[in-house]
Amino acid sequence: MTLVLGIETSCDETAAAVVDAEGRVLSDVVHSQVAIHARYGGVVPEVAARDHARAIVPVVREALAKAGVELAGVDAVAVTARPGLAGALLVGVQHAKGLAWAAGKPLVAVDHLIGHLLAVFLRREGDAPVDPPAFPFVALLASGGHTAIYRVDGDGDGQVHELGATRDDAAGEAFDKAGKLLGLGYPGGPRIDRLAATGDAARSTFKFATAMAGGGSLEFSFSGMKSALARHVEKEGRPEGQALADLCAAFQEAVVAALVSKTVAAARQEGVRTVVLGGGVAANRGLRAGMARRCEAAGLRLVVPPFASCTDNAAMIAYAGALRLGRGAIDDLALAPSTRTSLPRVTRKGGGRRG
Ligand code: KG4
Ligand code: ZN
Repeated sequence: MTLVLGIETSCDETAAAVVDAEGRVLSDVVHSQVAIHARYGGVVPEVAARDHARAIVPVVREALAKAGVELAGVDAVAVTARPGLAGALLVGVQHAKGLAWAAGKPLVAVDHLIGHLLAVFLRREGDAPVDPPAFPFVALLASGGHTAIYRVDGDGDGQVHELGATRDDAAGEAFDKAGKLLGLGYPGGPRIDRLAATGDAARSTFKFATAMAGGGSLEFSFSGMKSALARHVEKEGRPEGQALADLCAAFQEAVVAALVSKTVAAARQEGVRTVVLGGGVAANRGLRAGMARRCEAAGLRLVVPPFASCTDNAAMIAYAGALRLGRGAIDDLALAPSTRTSLPRVTRKGGGRRG
């Protein structure tokens, strides 16, 4: 049995996990920095890097202990090398290099986005069994840092293609910025989700234009909604009580409408029968319900991984690393992190489609 230790420090979670090549999760430790960044209303890169440096040793130790293996017992060390915050990535990459060198194990670099896209294949004890999706599938990855739709033909290099991404803010970032404007604290996503459940979008006095970037394209744009909300709050003040809940429902409905319609359009365009969700925003009840409804109507199978597989974790990095290892893709100690994904981009921030 091949065992891989995975390490993830690309943003604000210090995570380590031990996973086998079949995606069986032996341990999955996540130390979240969310409380540290809450007082700043968002992730502060320098603060993130420092906390990773503090947490990485105990987090890795805990992951090995929970899996019941020593470093000498794993077959490789996989680490998120891109994309993410430079200083944050550096902590994980340098730590992984040190472990790999000291234990004489192969080092395997993983693209964080590939990790998210393959997280649907992870198996945790206690999870309800999920029938893994067959390739090809269309995946919507929506988190605080990324929002894009991909066509996934397999787990190998060159088998993942971006179909469209956001031109500006990520969907989770839009939720978080809206939450901040509405005085809900950080992160705003789960709080807006909760309030929206008691609100009614139709009753909201403020209406949002749906976050569409060009009718026919598969690209998103969320920054206009945030600006509209900022202007509204400046003019009318922050709503309270039922009016706040109704406004949250209207905001969420507009974000969800864009995510759902573009994902279903992507599946139709690609002639693909399966849709997979990933990223922290996949926890949103409005998105889950809306996507389930539209997929059913369109005859598409929807696969939503458990929440622990959607948010940032190292199990997905270990699993993607195990698959790379199986193909002989080993990195050397000169590995340097990059803030950019290895996946070819078709959407440019602030731009739109490249010619
Ligand atoms: O994947 P994740 O844990 O971290 C990265 O950003 O990579 O995603 C966190 C994001 C935050 O923006 C958070 O507000 C959003 O996911 N989020 C939600 C919900 N739960 C988390 N957004 C909307 N509704 C939720 N229930
Ligand atoms: Zn992520």
